[in-house]
Amino acid sequence: MSVDLDPEAFWPRQDYSRVPYRVYHDRGIYDRELDRVFRGRAWSFLGLDAEIPNPGDFRTCFVGDTPVVYNRDTDGAVYAFVNRCAHRGALVRREVAGNAETHTCIYHQWCYGRDGGLKSIPFRRGIKGKGGLDPSFDLGAHGLKRLKVDAVAGALFGTFAEDAEPLRDYLGPPVVAQIERLFQRPVRVLGYHRQRINGNWKMFAENTRDNYHASLLHEFLVTFGIDRATQTGGVTMDARHRHNITWAEAASDSPEFARDMYRQANIRNDYLRLRDPRLVEFRREHPDNMNLAVTTVFPNAVFVQINNSLATRQIRPKGVGCFEVFQTLVGYADDDAEMVAHRLRSANLVGPAGYVSMEDGCVGGFVQRGTCRCAASGRTTPS
Ligand SMILES: [Fe+2]
Repeated sequence: MSVDLDPEAFWPRQDYSRVPYRVYHDRGIYDRELDRVFRGRAWSFLGLDAEIPNPGDFRTCFVGDTPVVYNRDTDGAVYAFVNRCAHRGALVRREVAGNAETHTCIYHQWCYGRDGGLKSIPFRRGIKGKGGLDPSFDLGAHGLKRLKVDAVAGALFGTFAEDAEPLRDYLGPPVVAQIERLFQRPVRVLGYHRQRINGNWKMFAENTRDNYHASLLHEFLVTFGIDRATQTGGVTMDARHRHNITWAEAASDSPEFARDMYRQANIRNDYLRLRDPRLVEFRREHPDNMNLAVTTVFPNAVFVQINNSLATRQIRPKGVGCFEVFQTLVGYADDDAEMVAHRLRSANLVGPAGYVSMEDGCVGGFVQRGTCRCAASGRTTPS
C-alpha cells in the first residue's frame, strides 16, 4: 500500500481526539516509524544492568525490528551494537544470552570485539598469494553499527542518534523518579516471558497509557481493588507528553463504595473468588502507598509494579500487524526466599496468561481485527 502523505487525509482534527485506524494497518507508516522513531532520535529500552553483571556478559534484544546485542566490557562499560554481520548480514549472536570475549559470525567467522569493532577476518590475505581482500580494506570501517548507551538506575537505554538529547532530558523528571523508585535497590532477574500479539505495536503502548480500561476490562483489578476508578490514583506525564505513568494507591477506597459504584455502572465486580488470597496481597515497600505504578516510556518500554510483582517490558514490532512483548520479571537482590515466592505468586497477574495481562494481549488483537476493513476508508476513533 502506498503512503498518502497528506496529513489532512489522516488526522481530521488538529489534536489527538480522532486517531485514524489506518495508523495501525499502513505498511508505509510502519516503515517510517521504524526509520524515524526506532532508528531515529528516540531512546529505546535495551535491558538491565543486572542482566549483564560481569565482563563479557551479553544479551540480545531488539530496537524496533533491528536485532541488537548489549554487553559489558572489562572496564565495566556497556556497549550495544546491531546484531548483523558487516559481511553478509547474518546474525552474529543467535543466543539470547551468554558470556564471551568476542563475537564471531558463524557464516564466515568474522570476529568482533565487545565494542562491536571488527577484529579479524579469516583468509584476509588469501592463501599462497591467491584470493583475500583488497589490501586497502579497512577493518576499522567495517565494525558493527553501534548504539549510544546510557542508563538510569540500572535500566539501559540505547539510541542510534549520536546527537540525541541526554537520556534524562528525554525521559523527564517524573519518569526518572519512577525508574529510580522501581530500582531503588539492586535487582535480580526472576524470569522472562515472551508473547506475540497479532496487533500493531502502538496498541500495546497505548493500552498501558489507557487508565480508563483498567477496571472495566480487568475484572481481577476491580474485584480485588488493585486498580479501580474509586481509588486514589491518576496519570502523570512528562512535560512533552511522550511518556506516561499510571498509578493507584492501595486501599484508598472502601470495598463497599467501590462495589456500589461499579454495580451502578452495571459492571461485574464481585464474581471472582480466590482460593489463595495471598495472590492479591500487597506488601508496602516504598515510603508512598502506591500498589500500582505502570510507566510507559516512548517508544518501546513499560516499567511495571502491580502489587509486589515488578517487571520491565520491551515492545518489539514484528510487522505492521504483529508485535512481541518481552517481559523481564525482577525482585530485589536482598529479597529472602519467602519474598521471592511472594513476588512470583503476584506475577500470576502478569505475562501472557496473567490474570490481568492476558486481557491486554487479547484487546490488541481485537482492535486490529476490528479495524482492518475501515483502515483504508479513513475512518477514525470516535471522539
Ligand atoms: Fe490493561
